[in-house]
Amino acid sequence: MRILSGIQPTGDKHLGNYSGGFRQYAATQERGEAFFCVVDLHSITAAYEPEALRRSTLNLAAMLFATGLDPARSTVFVQSHVKAHAEAAWLLSAVASFGQLGRMTQFKDKGDGKDFVPAGLFTYPVLMAGDILLYQADIVPIGDDQRQHLELARDIAQSFNSRFGETFKVPEGVYPTVGARIMDLQEPTRKMSTTSGTTQGTVRLVDEPDAVRKKFKTAVTDSGREIRRGDDKPGITNLIDILSIATGATPEQIEARYADGAGYGQFKADVGEAVVALLTPIRERYLELRADEGELKRLLRAGAEQAAATVEPTIRAVYDRMGFVAP
Ligand code: AMP
Ligand code: TRP
Repeated sequence: MRILSGIQPTGDKHLGNYSGGFRQYAATQERGEAFFCVVDLHSITAAYEPEALRRSTLNLAAMLFATGLDPARSTVFVQSHVKAHAEAAWLLSAVASFGQLGRMTQFKDKGDGKDFVPAGLFTYPVLMAGDILLYQADIVPIGDDQRQHLELARDIAQSFNSRFGETFKVPEGVYPTVGARIMDLQEPTRKMSTTSGTTQGTVRLVDEPDAVRKKFKTAVTDSGREIRRGDDKPGITNLIDILSIATGATPEQIEARYADGAGYGQFKADVGEAVVALLTPIRERYLELRADEGELKRLLRAGAEQAAATVEPTIRAVYDRMGFVAP
C-alpha cells in the first residue's frame, strides 16, 4: 500500500496541523510504503519572503521527524528537490479545466478581494494532484479542508486515464474522525490557523509549556456549564476534541468523566496540561533536530533520491502517453 501526503512550509505549525496532519502521518506510516513531502512549491502561491520560506522548509522537515516519522520507514523529502512535481503540474494542466479550478473554495476564499491574485493560487490544485498521482498513492491522509482538492485529484486521474490510457491510480482520502477541524481557542467558530486565526487562540507546536497553559486558561467557553459537545457549544466541543487527541480518550469518555459537574475552569486547566504533556517531547526532539542542520539536510537528500527513483517510471509514462518525443 502506497501512502502520500504533503504539508506546506508556511507559518509555524499548530495543534490543528498536528491533529489533521502530523498525527495521521505517523499513524499511517505503519500501514505501508509512505511518502511525506514538504510542499515548498505550493508556498509561493501566497505572499512570502524567500528567507522565511527557506527557514520554514527546514523547520517543517524537523517537525515531521519530531512528531514521529521514522526516516527508516518513511520517505520524507522536499517537493522542489524532486523535479517531476513541477513537470507533472504543467502536464496535468492539460486535463484540468478552468471551470473545475474556479469552483475550488480555497481559491475563492484566498483570492476574493485581493489586489494581486497569483496565477499559482488558481493552478495550485493541479500541482497537488501531481504530488499525489506521481506516487500511485492508494491513500492520502489529509485534513478535512483539503477534501475538495483531493476529489479534484481523483477527477484528474480519471480524465487522464480515459484520455491517454490507464496511467494513474485513483487515490482515496483518509480523514481523521476526531479533530479534523480544530478551532481557534478565542474564536471557536473559525479554524485554528497561524495565518488567519488569533495569536492567543492558536497553540503553536513550539510554544513554551507556560504559554500553552495560558492559552487554554483564557480559552473562550460557552454559556451554560455542562461539559458536552453540541452545535450550541463550539468552544467546549473544540476543547473536548483537543483533549481527545492529546489523551486518546474518546469524546464520549471525556463527557462521562466530566458529567459530575466539574467547572469550565478545571476542565480548561486539564486540557492545557494534557496538551503540554503531548507537546513537550515533540518540542524537545524538534529543537534537537533543528540544532543539527547538516544532519537534517542529509536526511532530506536521501528522501529526495528515494522519491525521484519512485516517480521516474510514472513521469516517463506520462510524457510517452501524451505524445512527447523521448529525448
Ligand atoms: P497547512 O499548514 O494549511 O498546509 O495544513 C497542514 C495540514 O493540517 C493539512 O492536512 C490541513 O488540512 C491540516 N489542518 C490545518 N489547519 C487545521 C485545523 N485547524 N484543524 C485540523 N486540521 C488542520
Ligand atoms: N494543499 C495541501 C494543504 O494545504 C498540501 C498538499 C500539497 C498536499 N500537496 C499535497 C496534501 C499532496 C496531500 C497530498 O494542506
